[in-house]
Amino acid sequence: MCGIIGFIGQNAQKTILNGLELLEYRGYDSAGLAMRTQKMKNTEIFKCKGRVRDLRNIVPEEDNASGCGIGHTRWATHGGVCDQNAHPHKSGKVTLVHNGIIENYADLTEEYELEDVLVSETDTEVVAALLDKYYDGDPQKTIWHVAKKLRGTYALVIMFEDIPDRIFAIRNVSPIVVTTKDDNAILASDPAALYQFSKSYFVLPEESILCMEQGTIRMTDQAGNLIEPEYQTVDWEVESVGKKGYPFFMEKEIMEQPEAIKRILEHYIKNDEISFAEEKIPDEVLYSFDHICIVACGTALHAGMIGQTLLKRWANMRVDVEMASEFMYSDTRVDEHTLFIAVSQSGETIDTMGALKKAKECGATCLAILNVRGSSISREADYVLYTDAGPEIAVASTKAYTTQLLIFYLFALKAATLKGLMGKEEFKEALGELKKLPNAMTKILEMKNEIHLLSKEVVTAPDLFMIGRGLDYLVLLEGALKLKEISYIHTEAYAAGELKHGTIALITEGTPVIAAVTQKPLLAKSLSNVKEIKARGANVVLLTRSGLTKEIEGGYHVIELPDLSDAFMPFLEIEALQLYAYFVSSDKGLDVDKPRNLAKVVTVE
Ligand code: M6R
Repeated sequence: MCGIIGFIGQNAQKTILNGLELLEYRGYDSAGLAMRTQKMKNTEIFKCKGRVRDLRNIVPEEDNASGCGIGHTRWATHGGVCDQNAHPHKSGKVTLVHNGIIENYADLTEEYELEDVLVSETDTEVVAALLDKYYDGDPQKTIWHVAKKLRGTYALVIMFEDIPDRIFAIRNVSPIVVTTKDDNAILASDPAALYQFSKSYFVLPEESILCMEQGTIRMTDQAGNLIEPEYQTVDWEVESVGKKGYPFFMEKEIMEQPEAIKRILEHYIKNDEISFAEEKIPDEVLYSFDHICIVACGTALHAGMIGQTLLKRWANMRVDVEMASEFMYSDTRVDEHTLFIAVSQSGETIDTMGALKKAKECGATCLAILNVRGSSISREADYVLYTDAGPEIAVASTKAYTTQLLIFYLFALKAATLKGLMGKEEFKEALGELKKLPNAMTKILEMKNEIHLLSKEVVTAPDLFMIGRGLDYLVLLEGALKLKEISYIHTEAYAAGELKHGTIALITEGTPVIAAVTQKPLLAKSLSNVKEIKARGANVVLLTRSGLTKEIEGGYHVIELPDLSDAFMPFLEIEALQLYAYFVSSDKGLDVDKPRNLAKVVTVE
């Protein structure tokens, strides 16, 4: 979850601070850096609770000195949020930053009697103390020796006091990416921090140690053999990492959705056929499995739930959807007859990765739907479909969701035609609806003032309910997650028909409710559920589509979405809900992009 960086070269302090700002979305409860320049006799450490902007206030005025340094933005796991627990941690000659969790830190502390040298409550400091205990002037030998004792996940970036011009790194599961340019060498937990130097980078392989010196890098395995880096290039624009004039990344990312959808359509639809040929996915993968198992977390899970509905509806497939964290310990059977689909924006979520590894062990064929190229999950999966939505920086996922949805639509449509379950006409109509998406989605963005106005009514509300049936319900699960994670309003999405079985007891005079009513066959039933809550005093906003408004009586606030056929409405509904959540959060004066307690990349179980 945490962001880590290591740099050797010109303007070291400035580069590390700027890099940390780009990585801050990974964790932002404390920040720190350790520096060594020619002017310094020892490594100097600056760290504090808070953001990178707080760290900037305590580091000495920037100079242009070249040097060597490591930095960290923290998402606390072991030990509270305080200056002392912030990274880097120093023990004797060793200074390091860490992303991940050392599961056996308590055992190590006891076994190696480290209690007296530890000053923080973190698992990380135990590693620094152990390294220092064994350090004999040979960094690689010491790192291998200690790494063998560690259980858990880690990306460790290490400096040794007596080797002031080198940085070492090793990892297990948690990512480290590396690049060089001219006299500079840089590593980070995420390519976002590297774009300032290069669009090409490599992932540090597990079971290797990286040694960075000015402008050069060297990787060796445990036997000391050199390992050649495998460079890859990202095609994201460097400017796409910025806010492009928007106050928050989330707004920018919401606004980017029509363009991202258009890009995916152009990529996957050729001559009015859906093709995954470039991704080298054979047709059999789309139709020959008895069972599909979709696994993901959070927003990606919600996209998977819609995927499940489509695959069942169009391709008559048997599909399970599970939370990755539950799948790991569940009895869901996957085997060689299963197509396992992992969905993840970052491609680094540890639960999703763990689930995919388990599915592979059971013999399943694994397909991943990912946004970040070269991510850990991409390296494990048999096949990958990329959403290529560009960097998503705001913690609240927006464009990742709609682009994941689109991949499921394309996949299900293609599977349906390959299985002979969808006729030419029906397929043509569906493609026609998909092609309308970029324009229809742009229209929702143009409604942002109207949505903003409606959202103002709930800024002080403690609770909010969202109700709907079928696809409407599934998209509301995502809408509710958006509102709760960035506005801190307790929001629950309910299947409208389920309300009467308990939850309606919570509806009282003035309770805000968003009711999604876009699915024609469910219209009558959904509307009677809306009337039931209205009769109990709920303050209802109806999210519906222009083709249905005639059938709805007055007395509601209405968000009228453009008319697409039923199956395609989720793209429009979610954009409206994203904007709604965004405005509530920004009107409350919250940090929209960095909600409390969260981090963008969840690399702990
Ligand atoms: O990177 P991933 O798609 O695997 O992340 C999964 C979830 O952590 C993520 O979608 C999370 O729920 C978002 N913050 C929701 O906005």
